[in-house]
Amino acid sequence: MISKCLFPVAGYGTRFLPATKSMPKEMLPVVNKPLVQYGVEEAIEAGMTTCAMVTGRGKRAIADHFDISYELEHQIAGSGKEKYLESIRNVLEQGVFTMVRQREMKGLGHAILTGQVLTGNEPFGVLLSDDLCLNDGPGVLAQMVELYKQFRCSIVAIQEVPPEETHKYGVIAGGCLKPGIYSVEQMVEKPAPEDAPSNLAIIGRYILTPDIFDILRETEAGANGEIQLTDALQEQARRGCVMAYKFRGRRFDCGSVPGFVEATNFVYENYYSGD
Ligand code: UTP
Repeated sequence: MISKCLFPVAGYGTRFLPATKSMPKEMLPVVNKPLVQYGVEEAIEAGMTTCAMVTGRGKRAIADHFDISYELEHQIAGSGKEKYLESIRNVLEQGVFTMVRQREMKGLGHAILTGQVLTGNEPFGVLLSDDLCLNDGPGVLAQMVELYKQFRCSIVAIQEVPPEETHKYGVIAGGCLKPGIYSVEQMVEKPAPEDAPSNLAIIGRYILTPDIFDILRETEAGANGEIQLTDALQEQARRGCVMAYKFRGRRFDCGSVPGFVEATNFVYENYYSGD
């Protein structure tokens, strides 16, 4: 139904310097798997087998990760070490990887517009791999695809955050249609607690309908001088419909050091099966 997922991976990752000086933030490993691979596995599970990456300078390690390493394959063929490549081999068997470079980092909205050449004129997923989402049942994107079948409009994933943290997120307000499902009326990027319309914060999972591209083209730079996806979504909600969905599962903000450490401990304790 939705076959493509866009991965904006061009950001500088300044919160993780100096680790991210020459290494993409998305390649930071949570235990033994890079963040972006968790994201790709979630997208593939949701049926989005074309993974469209919006990359930038210094991000070649991501392209290399989703390719065969002949030398490595040759070296470890027939040895007990092949099991370590199992998860990435599965991903490579199921997924197709396309790339485009964002030449100037003008924000998430601009990164998505840059990805239009890869997604074309159809609904698509967006996954920000520094938000690691884990669920024992279906992943967050798979849950959102089910909702898309019902509503056929753009959907943002949300979670409740403490009021003092609203300034880190896009925040929505809207009518509650069913438990956990809202029709978005208002969206504000990074509001101070006193200006926030609620404590429902947008996290890094979206399904977008392609009319978002025309809106993004008309969207002026907003907060931080960047083209904000939130501003375009607000306009899309005004013209038609955008839904917000309180997902099932846990989300870790791996773009921040505390969130990353929390995720590492959680994955090690709950998912890592040892040698
Ligand atoms: P962030 O706000 O997390 O920015 O971007 P960042 O640069 O990655 O990290 P910090 O804040 O400097 O530590 C959210 C997502 O949007 C992508 C990022 O790669 C990240 O996945 N992005 C952001 C782009 O692809 N291009 C941009 O111009 C901006």
